[in-house]
Amino acid sequence: MPTTSVFGAQWGDEGKGKLIDLLARDADVIVRYQGGANAGHTVVVGSEKYVLHLIPSGILHPGKVNVIANGVAVDPLKFLEEVEGLRARGVRVDGNGLKLSATAHVIFEHHRLIDQLSERWRGEGRIGTTGRGIGPCYADKAARTGLRVADLLDNSYCRTRLRAALAEKNALIERVHGERPLDLEGQLDRYTALAERLRPFVGDTGALVRAAAKAGKRILFEGAQGAMLDIDGGTYPFVTSSNTGANGIAAGASFPARGIERVIGIAKAYCTRVGEGPFPTEQDNPTGERIRKQGNEYGSTTGRPRRCGWFDAVAVRYALELSGADGWIVTNLDVLSGFPSVQAAARYRHEGQERRDWPAELPRLDGVEPLYQSFPGWTEDITRVRKYADLPAAARNYVEALEREVGAPILMLSVGPEREQVIPRGP
Ligand code: IMP
Repeated sequence: MPTTSVFGAQWGDEGKGKLIDLLARDADVIVRYQGGANAGHTVVVGSEKYVLHLIPSGILHPGKVNVIANGVAVDPLKFLEEVEGLRARGVRVDGNGLKLSATAHVIFEHHRLIDQLSERWRGEGRIGTTGRGIGPCYADKAARTGLRVADLLDNSYCRTRLRAALAEKNALIERVHGERPLDLEGQLDRYTALAERLRPFVGDTGALVRAAAKAGKRILFEGAQGAMLDIDGGTYPFVTSSNTGANGIAAGASFPARGIERVIGIAKAYCTRVGEGPFPTEQDNPTGERIRKQGNEYGSTTGRPRRCGWFDAVAVRYALELSGADGWIVTNLDVLSGFPSVQAAARYRHEGQERRDWPAELPRLDGVEPLYQSFPGWTEDITRVRKYADLPAAARNYVEALEREVGAPILMLSVGPEREQVIPRGP
């Protein structure tokens, strides 16, 4: 397996967890390079369902090295909770198989609190964040007031820096948001104690991944969220605070961009979004409700109902272009079984003009209208199909139309949550 990047090509929740788990079989090192516990990667193994937020999906395969690289925003509480949760279910998790970057930024209690208070402050203009402290942590990173994992391990340095940071945050919490400030000493004690439990996992993950590549090891970079939530390329300000595609790997994993040999996007056969912000092909109607019901489209991190709509080839085409994808994987095709017809948009109309490119110069997508094509549906249950030729003709017709419109080869299709429910794209 060449050094591979797998990322979400929509607004997140594309089913990356399952595909990464599958691809991880052939990898030696699996790397998360951005985001944090805002992600929710679901992997089903037999009758067991795992939802991973921070730890790479490769952890379910013994003998692999799983890396949380410097670009990830690490909540030590969530990290340890996840480690313990996996151990309780018999998954081996130790400092050999799981590495945490010394230079990853730490999410503290105040980041989570400020994330939630800022959302309240924004009112109607809220982003609809997961409330996990992601934005405030990355904001502190950019403002150079954050603390990194290595800083947390250095007790006296940590106390000095955290004391200074908290003094300012507490003023914000109290005077702007009118809430009770956090107890400074309590926070210092709590986080310095947590630091000791992190220590066995901590190291220079950039050096580790680069050395692994040099030694010919197979590396898989696991993107979280999706390209349309990318802080630079997505629907700003309704985005997450990191670079979600292959574009985030160089900085987020301290791994040279030219070392990435294969790039794969993941997209559902329809489209969903959680939180606020533009979503051109949204079906806020009984069709969207039916997709939500058939696809069980509720957030794996927050439980929120996802907004649902038809496939948007304009967005996916753009997402694949941004990361230079070699191809893509279609997930949740089974969810569309039973619809009398299915639709997809490959072009938008704006001010009377038709266009196929993503309208990046229209950040709110005002006046942008998707132009749909309709395709005959299929009624068969396709969850047991394992060969492309065995799919109903209508399903193949739909898939091939998506492939044509997106303009990049489909490598595989997924027809259910289980590891085995995949179909290689065949003739
Ligand atoms: P944040 O990442 O919690 O700051 O949330 C920013 C936006 O990204 C919100 O619209 C969230 O719903 C969305 N988001 C964050 N993580 C995920 C994810 O893993 N799947 C889908 N949406 C996400």
